[in-house]
Amino acid sequence: MPVSLSTVHVINHLDRDYLRQALEHDVRVGLTASPKWLPPKWFYDAAGSELFSRITRLPEYYPTRRELAILRARAADLAAESGADTLVELGSGTSEKTVLLLDALASAGTLRAYTPVDVDAVTLSAAAQRLARRFPGLAVRAVCADFERHLALLPRAGRRMVAFLGGTIGNLDPVAREVFLKELRATLRPGDTFLLGADLVKDVERLVAAYDDSAGVTAAFNRNVLRVINRELDADFEPEAFEHVALYDGRQDWIEMRLRASRDMRVRIGGLDLAVDFAEGEEMRTEISAKFRPEKLREELVAAGFKVRRRYTDPTGDFTLVLAEV
Ligand code: SAH
Ligand code: TRP
Repeated sequence: MPVSLSTVHVINHLDRDYLRQALEHDVRVGLTASPKWLPPKWFYDAAGSELFSRITRLPEYYPTRRELAILRARAADLAAESGADTLVELGSGTSEKTVLLLDALASAGTLRAYTPVDVDAVTLSAAAQRLARRFPGLAVRAVCADFERHLALLPRAGRRMVAFLGGTIGNLDPVAREVFLKELRATLRPGDTFLLGADLVKDVERLVAAYDDSAGVTAAFNRNVLRVINRELDADFEPEAFEHVALYDGRQDWIEMRLRASRDMRVRIGGLDLAVDFAEGEEMRTEISAKFRPEKLREELVAAGFKVRRRYTDPTGDFTLVLAEV
């Protein structure tokens, strides 16, 4: 019997020159600032994505399980509400939860295409191949791109649902988030929808534990950014000389991840011809993960030009999924 094979195309907007320039720029700006900081997208090389996958299975890291629970209960509803034939997913990673959405769109009879978008090319193409095998007939167009820079380049064919899961929106600072939402809004047409997963404000102890697990996986993930800089920019960071710090800023409603120098040291970044001094105890910010209040999130979406169509929260009230339209 003939089988209809799915096709996988990978489009790459992140060639080596681009990546190198962007990393050089970010590292130079961040490490010469006071206090020092590093931008989070550089966590995700193949090793970083693998560590993140392990984070999602940690007992302390509740967001993945909560979002999955909402998707299990609501995917059919979301598929029907959106009427989408094309699922575009920003920061798709391993696309594990996405299967639920694709199943629901397939059952609704509308599914035609899937476009995962991620900065990590290795994890992206593996996920694209896996889903193409699982959904015969699905057109999989993977796009290796930066969702903070390349939204305008994403394919626009079909009636699209753009999914942004995992609470990754919280990794953008408030200004970047506003810019991102407006840019995304500008690429959508009537009939398209935006599915946003966001982590909600909750008990501080549970929040901090989710970003400082007892097995030390998040610590290894945090230090991975130093390994990426060592490899790509010929630097000599000693990752083990930095301690993982996770704290909750209750004024900003965000978790802050930092790396703290355990002693005085000088780090050389050959590729930038730069030497950077760290004092013992000095902390460098590597990531924020903002937590949301439902009403405030709605206001931000409305300010960017979206209309909220559906809002779902898991039974514990930990996590929310919002379906918005233009
Ligand atoms: N959606 C998955 C993965 C979340 S982790 C989940 O819910 O479990 C965040 C993902 O976004 C990673 O796969 C990372 O590589 C990707 N990412 C981070 N910054 C990005 C950016 N600026 N552009 C595109 N992808 C990005
Ligand atoms: N989007 C995830 C989140 O904010 C990313 C993440 C989870 C993360 N754990 C982390 C980023 C630890 C940096 C360090 O929950």
